[in-house]
Amino acid sequence: MDDLTAVVAIDRLSFPTPARPGLYEHEVSENTLAHYQVLCQDNQIIGYAGYWLIGDEVHISTIAVHPEWRGCGLGELLLLNLLLLAYAHPANIVTLEVRHANSGAQQLYHKYQFEVVGRRRRYYRDTGEDALIMTAPPLDARYHQFLEQKKGLLWRRLSGED
Ligand SMILES: CC(C)(COP(=O)(O)OP(=O)(O)OC[C@H]1O[C@@H](n2cnc3c(N)ncnc32)[C@H](O)[C@@H]1OP(=O)(O)O)[C@@H](O)C(=O)NCCC(=O)NCCS
Repeated sequence: MDDLTAVVAIDRLSFPTPARPGLYEHEVSENTLAHYQVLCQDNQIIGYAGYWLIGDEVHISTIAVHPEWRGCGLGELLLLNLLLLAYAHPANIVTLEVRHANSGAQQLYHKYQFEVVGRRRRYYRDTGEDALIMTAPPLDARYHQFLEQKKGLLWRRLSGED
């Protein structure tokens, strides 16, 4: 709960319509399906991500990096950590919705072999945009190996070895 002020501030900088008041409080304290993680640098929260675990399915509910920290692999770190957690649960399916115009986020998901499997027409009430439904490959041993390879590459990038 102590992290929510920083999370809400990043949310406001990241999405066309901010999360409704109290949403994250509800998610963290009431929603037993919800799992959240924050990313810290020097004790400052610079990103966060969340998902719901429903049966064997992980639904990514949100992911965001503070604008000043984007473009250096941290969104990827959040997504990768989340996918490894999903594998460990164990879940079989990972799915999410993304705005049709949000090509940056879609590129991130494609990098992790997500594919577009459907579309929800005018899903976002603020802009009337469609949502694309994207899913990761099955969370099997092959995909886990792929994630471990990506982890090695990302680690080298984040530690400045590349
Ligand atoms: C989407 C978001 C989390 C990505 O975080 P980030 O830290 O900037 O992304 P990374 O630096 O980790 O990028 C990882 C990969 O994502 C893709 N990517 C990220 N931003 C991109 C952009 N603006 N354009 C194209 N590709 C992009 C690239 O494939 C990149 O790999 P590369 O570095 O090898 O090219 C961040 O842009 C954000 O917070 N956006 C606002 C909130 C949002 O839209 N969330 C998604 C909701 S579905």
